[in-house]
Amino acid sequence: MDQVSLLDIHEVRKSFPKPDGGELLVLDGIELTLHEGEIVGLLGRSGSGKSTLLRLIAGLSSPASGSVTYLGQPVAGPPEGIAMVFQSFALFPWLTVLENVEIGLEALGLPRDEIHRRALSAIDMIGLDGFESAYPRELSGGMRQRVGFARALVVHPNIILMDEPFSALDILTAETLRTDFLDLWAEGQLPIKGVLIVTHNIEEAVLMCDRILVFGSNPGRILTEIAVDLPQPRSRLDPAFREVVERIYVAMTASDAARPPETRAERFPGTGIGTVLPRISSNLLSGLLEAVAAPPYDGEADLPVIAAALYMEIDDLFPVAETLQMLRFAELVGGDIRLSVEGKQFAHADLDARKQLFARHLLSYVALAAHIRRVLDERPDHRAPWSRFSDELEDHMSPDAAERTLRAVISWGRFGEVFAYDDQTQMFNLENP
Ligand SMILES: Nc1ncnc2c1ncn2[C@@H]1O[C@H](COP(=O)(O)OP(=O)(O)OP(=O)(O)O)[C@@H](O)[C@H]1O
Ligand SMILES: [Mg+2]
Repeated sequence: MDQVSLLDIHEVRKSFPKPDGGELLVLDGIELTLHEGEIVGLLGRSGSGKSTLLRLIAGLSSPASGSVTYLGQPVAGPPEGIAMVFQSFALFPWLTVLENVEIGLEALGLPRDEIHRRALSAIDMIGLDGFESAYPRELSGGMRQRVGFARALVVHPNIILMDEPFSALDILTAETLRTDFLDLWAEGQLPIKGVLIVTHNIEEAVLMCDRILVFGSNPGRILTEIAVDLPQPRSRLDPAFREVVERIYVAMTASDAARPPETRAERFPGTGIGTVLPRISSNLLSGLLEAVAAPPYDGEADLPVIAAALYMEIDDLFPVAETLQMLRFAELVGGDIRLSVEGKQFAHADLDARKQLFARHLLSYVALAAHIRRVLDERPDHRAPWSRFSDELEDHMSPDAAERTLRAVISWGRFGEVFAYDDQTQMFNLENP
C-alpha cells in the first residue's frame, strides 16, 4: 500500500516531575502513524495520557524519549500545518465571529484581504454564514464550537487535532456538528488531510474513525488498535456497528491481560491515592447492581445488553461498571459484567446493610477514602479542610481532575457514612451526615 504518512510517533515516553522529586510516567512506548485521508481516534479512560499525547504532537511539550515526526521533520515547537480544536473554545468576547476566526490567520503574516477572504470562507463552510458580526455571547454553545472549528480550519492545516471537541455540547448539538463535520470531510471540502480525535465516547469513535487506538492507564499506553471498515455515513443501529462497539468493550475490559504478568495480580485496577475517580452516584451504582443481580441475568450480563435494558448509553454505563469493579462488587471480563459475592449481597440487602457493606469496600479498595478517614481519625477535632486533600491530589493530577476526584469520594463517603463534608465551610468531618 502506498500511503503518505503525515505523522509518525515512535517509542514515545513522557513523564512529569513530581514535587517529591520522583517522576510520574504518563505515556510509555507510544507508536502511532497518521496517514493522509485518515481519521484516527484515541479512546481511553480519564488520565490515560490522551491530551498529553496531543500536546506532544502539537509541539506544545516534548517527549522524554522517542520521536514525533511531522512530514518527515522532527517536531520541535508548534508546526505550521497542525491545528487544534479543544473541548470548548476560549473565544475573545470583545471580538466578532469574523474577528475571532481571523485571529487564527494573523500569525501567518498573510495579506489583509487574503485573511478576510479565507475567514469568510471558513465561516461559510462550517455553517456560521450570517453570524460574521455576532459576538460570542450572542451564540449558543454549538455555534461557539463552530467558531472554534472555523478558527482551526482557516489556517488550512494538514492535520487537525481534536481534544473531545463535542463533549461539552448537549447530545443533539454534538450530533449535528459531528455529522456536518463528517459530511464536509467525506465531500473533500475540508482543507485538511488527516484528523486525530480524542474521545471518551466509544460510539463517537466508531461513528467517526477509520482506526481507533484504545488507551490503557498507569502508564498511558496503547492497548490495541481496532480498524473500523464500515462505509460512511454509519448508523448506530447497524449490527456491524454494534459489533465494533462490542469489540472495543472487550478490548477495554481485557486490559488486565495486556499487562505484564508481574502486575496482572492486580486483577482489579488499583487505586493509589493518585487515581482519578469518576463521579458516579451511589444511586447509579445500586441501580446497576440490582439490574445485573435480577433475572434473567442472575449476576452476569453482557454490558451492551444491560445498557439497553436500562435505557442507558453504553458510554454512560461503562464508568459505572468500572467503579463497581474498583469497589470489587463486580468484575469486567470480555465485555461482560459479573457480580462478586458481595455485589450480590448488596443487591439483595436493605439500605442500612448496603451502607455498611459499601463503607467496608470503600475503605478497603479506594485508597483516597481510607486516607481521608485516617487523617480525620488522627486529628483531635476530626476535621480537615478541602485544601488538605486537594493539594495532595494535585501532586498526582491536574487541578480539574483533583476536584472531580474529591467530589466523587465525598459523595461515596456520604453514602457509606464514612465521613462527611460541609460545603459551606469546606471542611471534612466525622459528624454523622
Ligand atoms: N502538566 C502536568 N503536570 C503533571 N502531571 C500532569 C500534567 N499534565 C497531565 N498530567 C497527568 O498526566 C496524566 C495524563 O493526563 P492527560 O490529561 O493526558 O489524560 P487524558 O487521557 O487526556 O484524561 P482525560 O480523559 O481526563 O482528559 C494524568 O495523571 C495527569 O494528571
Ligand atoms: Mg484529556
